[in-house]
Amino acid sequence: MSIEIDIRTGDAGWPAARPLLTSIWPPGGPIEWAHPDLRLMIEAPDQGVVSHAGIYRRTGTWKGRRVRIAGIGGVCTHPDFRRHGYASIALNAAVQTLRDEHASDFILLVCEPHNFAFYQARGWHPFEGELHVEQNGKTVRFEAMTPHVFDMRYRPRRRDRPVRPAVVTACHRQFDSRLRRSGMRLSQ
Ligand SMILES: CC(C)(COP(=O)(O)OP(=O)(O)OC[C@H]1O[C@@H](n2cnc3c(N)ncnc32)[C@H](O)[C@@H]1OP(=O)(O)O)[C@@H](O)C(=O)NCCC(=O)NCCS
Repeated sequence: MSIEIDIRTGDAGWPAARPLLTSIWPPGGPIEWAHPDLRLMIEAPDQGVVSHAGIYRRTGTWKGRRVRIAGIGGVCTHPDFRRHGYASIALNAAVQTLRDEHASDFILLVCEPHNFAFYQARGWHPFEGELHVEQNGKTVRFEAMTPHVFDMRYRPRRRDRPVRPAVVTACHRQFDSRLRRSGMRLSQ
């Protein structure tokens, strides 16, 4: 089957992406996600968007440094089109887009245990420290899913020496789509 891969801004791509995304994550779920800045979308003839990956760009600090954190979210493929490599194509295209920008220190995503192998087979590493998010002015630890990172300039990992707590504060809004600015903090 011939497919097309397209990249659009989050808002411009939403009408095309919405049927797929809302079928997989119906509105009203426990976490409300921000719209991405960009969408990588794979379209199949007469099917519309069958696979999707979103790109987010945020700033923050990690280990006391101010860092540019890219995010990947909304990775999904229509159930009828899985295991054809489409999510891998969308994910790789998202990573390549971020590499080409040279504007991110590392990439972050969060996922559930049944997807760990999928991402780890594609070069992602679990971040075994803590992820804190700030929403609506409050900082909370984000434990619903496990952060994974894709190395770029930095390689965030588990702490490898005794450490001071709370290394990071950041601005992040991936986890709040009503959104004004929210924050994120990684500590390890
Ligand atoms: C996880 C998910 C995105 C994978 O989508 P996908 O398009 O099927 O992914 P791919 O086809 O790129 O890869 C899936 C598997 O199929 C295999 N595969 C790829 N092409 C294949 C082919 N032509 N024939 C057979 N298998 C193939 C891959 O090797 C991969 O196997 P692996 O995980 O053991 O490495 C999809 O299952 C999904 O949408 N799940 C629900 C939403 C979700 O959980 N998203 C993740 C949020 S973090």
